[in-house]
Amino acid sequence: MDKHPRILFIDQAKDVGGAELSLISIAKSLPESEILAFVEGTFTDALEKNGINHECLNLDAEILSLSKEKANLIRIVLSFSKLIFSMLKISSVIKNFDVIVFNTQKSLILGAIAAKFQRKKTIFFLHDILSIDHFNKFNLLLINIFTANFCDVIIANSRATARAVEKLNPKKKLKIKVIHIGISQKIELKNDNKIFTKKSLGLSKNKIVGSFSRIARWKGQHILIESLEHLPKYIHCLIVGSPFFGEEAYYGYLQQIASRPILKDRVHFIPFKTDPLSLMRLCDIVTHNSTAPEPFGRIIVEGMLCKKPVIATNMGGAKEIIRNNKSGYLIEPGDPQLLARTILAIFSNKDEARSITKEAYETAVRNFSEDKMTARIKKIINNI
Ligand code: UDP
Ligand code: GLC
Repeated sequence: MDKHPRILFIDQAKDVGGAELSLISIAKSLPESEILAFVEGTFTDALEKNGINHECLNLDAEILSLSKEKANLIRIVLSFSKLIFSMLKISSVIKNFDVIVFNTQKSLILGAIAAKFQRKKTIFFLHDILSIDHFNKFNLLLINIFTANFCDVIIANSRATARAVEKLNPKKKLKIKVIHIGISQKIELKNDNKIFTKKSLGLSKNKIVGSFSRIARWKGQHILIESLEHLPKYIHCLIVGSPFFGEEAYYGYLQQIASRPILKDRVHFIPFKTDPLSLMRLCDIVTHNSTAPEPFGRIIVEGMLCKKPVIATNMGGAKEIIRNNKSGYLIEPGDPQLLARTILAIFSNKDEARSITKEAYETAVRNFSEDKMTARIKKIINNI
């Protein structure tokens, strides 16, 4: 392959999740590449802000609303004509590039046939665990067909993610490369927020435990809120993030449990921030509470780089980032009392927490750097 292939990344998301933030890091290091978005939203805002070449197709919302939980055969057949139209639009962009990197399942399904037909090299950057914990059977079947037949290389964001796609295609020898997500060590403060302090939030006398995952039931924010019932009243929590992917009902449920008398005024909901790390800095502990295996978990590495003790659940990508009691704390999922005990243990053993936090920072710098990730991805793209 030409040393300077023309690279197109495709991602249909309206809003930024970890997969999109990781894509932004990668695209920044490949200034000649372009990102194809499907609809305007916080994702295209972030692309603008980061000065990344991009094009937005403004596709029909019906195509995009075929969410991973709701897509089924009937809805897909009904949307058939719109689907074909969208695929043709994507195809007309693909023709100008050499390597097409699909950053999501939906972009793979909509663009991979055109890419193969035009003999383009295709990479699927897999950010999800393709299992029944996260997808319905129909989706898994569809993704199975596309991963088996339309991808030259699959980049998996963790070994857990790679294992799941291998399991889905047991007979096919897929070319899978595991590349852990890397986070910029600068973690610099951007200027769209006032810098928060405990004082500015009226929490000078409190200990704060923070959750920075997007609002979704499987991210388990309710476990953190419920853990406060087993903790002294001076311990509060921040729930930072918004229900981007159709999880408004769960957000409502979180607010409902937070209104229990024992939790009154101790749970602080802060909608999505483009710079969540200015809030992470004032937390005493960062928790990641996913109740299903996390594919990777950027937030865990961000907590480590912010020099905060991080508690994560002992599954999926989290196990590849944290060594329990060495560089963080891994606990069983879904247990508010266990989370509460772990939080108290951290507060009561400051020396141990300090040495774990130091080890965590060094691990994050060594193993999860943005430069390392982008260098490995460039190598794959240039050698495909
Ligand atoms: N995040 C953010 N604003 C918020 C909450 C979270 O930008 O208000 C970011 C967070 O810093 C992290 C990403 O969203 O980089 C979440 O990525 P992760 O891999 O932890 O989970 P995902 O949501 O992608 O499943
Ligand atoms: C997805 C996953 C998350 C991962 C991110 C970046 O959004 O849910 O675990 O960290 O992609 O790969």
